[in-house]
Amino acid sequence: MLDDFINWLGATPVSLVIQKVFWIIPTVQTVHILAISVVLSSMAMFDLRLLGLAGMRNSIRSFSRRFMPWLWGALIVLAVSGSILIVAEPKRALGNVVFLLKMCMLATAIIVTLGFQTVLKRDLASGSADLAPSHFTVAKITGLLSLALWVGIAVAGRLIAYTG
Ligand code: HEM
Repeated sequence: MLDDFINWLGATPVSLVIQKVFWIIPTVQTVHILAISVVLSSMAMFDLRLLGLAGMRNSIRSFSRRFMPWLWGALIVLAVSGSILIVAEPKRALGNVVFLLKMCMLATAIIVTLGFQTVLKRDLASGSADLAPSHFTVAKITGLLSLALWVGIAVAGRLIAYTG
């Protein structure tokens, strides 16, 4: 079933054009890598702030306002560029368990980020100037988990080329 889909996708005119025009894949890979650098740098800053290891003179609220738009914007670029890479060579990604692992970690990282944003928004809505002190442990666990997940996603992304 999955094999049929992979074979069908790889034989579509769009896939054939991407495969034949030599500059498309390297260009899309470059865009993917540039967007990765935006995600990793934004989330490293945000997560280190949650862990209390960076930017302690600024509020978590201001860090969130500064870095979250970069995360969501870069994730859209990653989803589009990643999808083009899948259409170009469906078997490399879709037939690889490491790619599946990467997507599971990505979904978890997004859920963890949205969950924390909800906690922060609720605290702000209830009149707190920043994250409530009762949620500092939640912030630390989120920071650690999120850092591990984003690094794991990057490692899995790189490993796709060497596995499967
Ligand atoms: C929906 C989102 C995404 C999709 C569909 C996607 C898909 C892909 C695909 C198909 C490849 C090519 C793998 C290969 O053939 O070797 C790739 C490479 C890669 N991805 Fe993603 N990706 C996404 C998001 C991310 C994110 C969020 C990160 C890390 C923060 C990431 C990190 C990487 C890395 C490090 C590579 C290897 C780049 C290289 O060595 O050229 N990806 N991705």
